Amino acid sequence: MTDRVIPLADHRYAAAIPAVPAVALPANGLLADTLGRPLRDLRISVTDRCNFRCSYCMPKEVFDKNYQFLPHSSLLSFEEITRVARLFVAHGVQKIRLTGGEPLLRKNLEVLVEMLSALATPAGEPLDITLTTNASVLAKKAQSLKDAGLQRVTVSLDALDDAIFRRMNDADFPVAEVLRGIEVAERVGLGPIKVNMVVKRGTNDHEIIAMARHFKGTPIILRFIEYMDVGATNGWRMDEVLPSAQVIARLDAEFGVEPIEPNYSGEVAERWRYVDGSGEIGVISSVTQAFCRDCNRARLSTEGKLFLCLFATHGHDLRALLRGGYADAQIEAAIGEIWRGRGDRYSELRGAMAADVGNGERRVEMHYIGG
Ligand code: GTP
Ligand code: 5AD
Ligand code: SF4
Ligand code: SF4
Repeated sequence: MTDRVIPLADHRYAAAIPAVPAVALPANGLLADTLGRPLRDLRISVTDRCNFRCSYCMPKEVFDKNYQFLPHSSLLSFEEITRVARLFVAHGVQKIRLTGGEPLLRKNLEVLVEMLSALATPAGEPLDITLTTNASVLAKKAQSLKDAGLQRVTVSLDALDDAIFRRMNDADFPVAEVLRGIEVAERVGLGPIKVNMVVKRGTNDHEIIAMARHFKGTPIILRFIEYMDVGATNGWRMDEVLPSAQVIARLDAEFGVEPIEPNYSGEVAERWRYVDGSGEIGVISSVTQAFCRDCNRARLSTEGKLFLCLFATHGHDLRALLRGGYADAQIEAAIGEIWRGRGDRYSELRGAMAADVGNGERRVEMHYIGG
């Protein structure tokens, strides 16, 4: 195979080749989109594969043995990821989150972490480098990730009850192994650890109190996430969403909770704490309370397409520029132009739109673009 053969899988989501401005305006950190939102958070998907089949993300019926994942030649190399990350940092990115699929399935990920942790903001500050994982191999990898410069991890865990968890991950994976991953990550200093629980009414909402009780009194921050209509494969229905207000009401009745101030502007989770001082929890309410107004997140897919929203139907093919002989200044300018043109605010508009927004184009899938 020559390198001119473009694998079919590359065409799964439309992505225009970005225009490269003739006069390249250098990044000055003041970049804002059409709604005045800066660029602060870059989420990089390092693989579209996962060893779990959570029904809300990669339902087994769709992601079966016939599903064509991206071929290795399509993936950005670690050098390409680091090159493009540096250009985003010049535009104001302060946090990099590695996602997937399951990021720890990407071979030698710690090498990438080491390369990224050598970057710094224009003011010379270190970046916040973190990772979202299902923790299936975290116990094994935590120490080397920490040594490579990873600061913290966020772990997905949807239930404490082993039978419910095995059913939800649909890979028969046990809770105990995830808890062990969390424990090792904490021991090697990858905190503060956050645990994300996607709540599906009727599936795991009766696990809310047990999960809260388990992490109460520890430094681990448990966040309850409203089940979202991302992608086009999870069969999302509004009646399976448990509004965060109800999660908070249940926690308040059981333990007593009160709201606390956000850590930073544009924070996704709303923060709460137990009134007895025994820890913090959070809710992420993208369905019932959209937080697009402050959305400063850009997403880079495994094959180098830039998406401006979790619910986007098309991306911007940065890989074409990275492999097209363009200079850093040109790619940096192209990224700036793309961000200046951004007006995405899907969650705010959700109520007013049909479920299949985007002129029949397929919405990007979460396993491909990352959380
Ligand atoms: P911190 O850096 O720890 O504050 O993390 P975070 O809360 O920004 O990121 P995380 O990836 O843990 O987000 C948790 C979940 O919130 C994701 O898995 C998504 O389900 C959801 N989420 C994150 N960002 C967005 C977003 O931009 N839009 C929507 N609709 N949901 C989001
Ligand atoms: N709704 C909400 N969150 C989702 N995630 C994946 N699919 C969905 C969905 N449909 C998020 C979860 C998980 C992370 C990897 O992606 O937070 O922890
Ligand atoms: Fe894998 Fe995370 Fe998606 Fe579950 S939610 S299938 S663990 S990428
Ligand atoms: Fe950002 Fe899109 Fe999520 Fe709104 S729906 S918060 S614009 S990613």
